[in-house]
Amino acid sequence: MQASATPPDELDALRAAALPAIAGADSAALEELRVGLMGKQGKLTALLKSLGAMDPEARKSAGAAINVLKAEITEALTARRAVLDAAALEAQLAAERIDVTQPPRPEPSGAIHPLSRTQDELTAIFGAMGFAIKDGPDIENDWNNFSALNIPGHHPARAMMDTFYLTGGEVLRTHTSPVQIRTMLEQPPPIRIIVPGRTFRSDHDATHSPMFHQCEGLVIGEGITLGHLKGCLQDFLSAFFQVPNLPVRLRSSYFPFTEPSMEVDIGWNKKTGEIGGGADWLEIGGSGMVHPNVLANCGIDPRQYQGFAFGVGLERITMLKHGIADLRLFYESDIRWLRHYGVSPLSPATLHEGF
Ligand code: PHE
Repeated sequence: MQASATPPDELDALRAAALPAIAGADSAALEELRVGLMGKQGKLTALLKSLGAMDPEARKSAGAAINVLKAEITEALTARRAVLDAAALEAQLAAERIDVTQPPRPEPSGAIHPLSRTQDELTAIFGAMGFAIKDGPDIENDWNNFSALNIPGHHPARAMMDTFYLTGGEVLRTHTSPVQIRTMLEQPPPIRIIVPGRTFRSDHDATHSPMFHQCEGLVIGEGITLGHLKGCLQDFLSAFFQVPNLPVRLRSSYFPFTEPSMEVDIGWNKKTGEIGGGADWLEIGGSGMVHPNVLANCGIDPRQYQGFAFGVGLERITMLKHGIADLRLFYESDIRWLRHYGVSPLSPATLHEGF
């Protein structure tokens, strides 16, 4: 014999018990209620199962009534869960709140290394002049470091540079000039870049370190002249040393990759170390008009495009600016030295004072 329909009383009783219990439940109780009602052994589940044993007429009316209750209970469970979750999130946010306006604890602060500071300053100065900042790898191939720069295999400049050779035939780059080549191969003119970075030569004394830093500059365009080179160096060096109209002298020299080539000197007082005063000159880098062979090596037509390049020693200009006497101290990681010559990370290099 088939069972008769679920008595409506039973559904009402379940509704009357379940809904207020759900509305007042905490998170754990809510889960218990859910399982007790809708789980495998749940009361509502049992009622739904009982439908199978009913005759079709009874099943129809009972099924409708049970499903109405099921929908009500499901909605009540979902609503209560949402309320509890929101409250839990609020509580967590309140508990984990941090006061970002609190002053920092007086912890010993670090300092920016003077060489990093110089690079930041060059970035600010040349950035304001419209230069992009480029870099290249420490390990270079012979072509980028020498041949493409018009330094052929037998050239004495190769020996002059005291190169570190690696077993695979590569070199530790002896200057930042290979990034000239990389850049010209990579993008068409106009080009306006600086390249601050590490360089390597087999050399070690108070003024030479096997690892040191240079900053290359390269400008390629139509109608670029030596006047642009001089003006660019003048603006850069005056801004860097913060000496308006710093005396800058271009002294005839030779580099295979520039023609004409010039050493860059700045005026200073040898006795007092004062930059810009006195009658002495100090060399801080090399420069020149990019050699037509170098342009051609990079697929740039030297009849259409000209340019200038320069390279300055970053240790050299940093030592001059801050009166640092011995190059080796840059790399000794002596915390007292760094505290003295380093700069607060909270004083970023900017051009607030202008050129
Ligand atoms: N690369 C040269 C050096 O290391 C410097 C330089 C760069 C000279 C660019 C001219 C043009 O000595």
